[in-house]
Amino acid sequence: VGPGGQIVDWLRGTAGPLSGAELARRLGCSRAAVWKQVAALRRAGYDIRGTPSAGYVLAAVPDRLGPSELAPYLRGSWRRVEWRAEIDSTQHLARELARAGAEEGTVVIAESQTGGRGRLGRRWHSPPGVNLYCSLVLRPSVPLATVPSVALVAGLAVVDAVCEVTALRPALKWPNDVLVAGRKVAGILTELEAEVERVHHVIAGIGVNLNGGRDAFPPELATKATSLRLASGREVHRAAFTAGLLAALEARYRRFLADGFAAMRSEWEAHSALTGKEVRVTAPEGEVTGRVLGIDDDGALRLAGPRGELRVVGSEVTVPDGYDRLR
Ligand code: BTN
Repeated sequence: VGPGGQIVDWLRGTAGPLSGAELARRLGCSRAAVWKQVAALRRAGYDIRGTPSAGYVLAAVPDRLGPSELAPYLRGSWRRVEWRAEIDSTQHLARELARAGAEEGTVVIAESQTGGRGRLGRRWHSPPGVNLYCSLVLRPSVPLATVPSVALVAGLAVVDAVCEVTALRPALKWPNDVLVAGRKVAGILTELEAEVERVHHVIAGIGVNLNGGRDAFPPELATKATSLRLASGREVHRAAFTAGLLAALEARYRRFLADGFAAMRSEWEAHSALTGKEVRVTAPEGEVTGRVLGIDDDGALRLAGPRGELRVVGSEVTVPDGYDRLR
């Protein structure tokens, strides 16, 4: 946190005004330097009322997901936030940071992405200021075959975070879409760098549609996607949601490391949108159809196919009846 961030933290933590002299003393700089910092914060959107002699009061902070906006809401030990107003994809910066040794829990957040990426080479529509786009650096010491479960664990954390701030009942569409009323509100993209049997890092990218209106979606998504605001009728406090999501991710991830995905399997199934549905799965071995029985302890999808039960790991599932038939 730079001097501007410290000023914001102190103003936030004090009920009455803080004088320019007091801030100068705390920062170990001149009152003129404090005034310059306050002017810069005002230009950046902070509503700081008052004068150096009467003291400063923080009236409002900008609706942004930078470290100083998130700080008052963060609850866990994951606190390193790299924020960008605009970026190609948060996945890329997170990967660079991970390669340079960034600690587990480091999170990259951007207000907008020019090249937001979805699964299977798709684009992730990333307009500025209304949603959450984040990528988390993880270093799970688990066998490679277990890594796909990380996306399922992240899906449950998104459900936790949505339930904390809305009365919605989100559903999970295996492997990692989060739906509300049959429409997608969040997507998860996990990318891995590993040696033969050692995971270097996993980048868990999460996009959540928070406050976008109907016009926030391109025509091809209009009937398939929604935002928490559209679905709940209420604006979501983006910083509080983001901090809640990070806390949920940290808690779920620690549980996963300690007890494996099996410990969360039944909870995941309780939210599953697909259980009991007839689906078509594009698996590496070709296309299969069947009725979804559930998921197993490793997070694989269990299907009752024409030739008996089969398990599918990490592929694309299509519901012939369409999204709207999912809860
Ligand atoms: C999907 O459902 O296809 C996955 C979407 C993942 C989108 C997020 S937004 C933050 C991170 N950066 C990206 O470029 N993609 C992920």
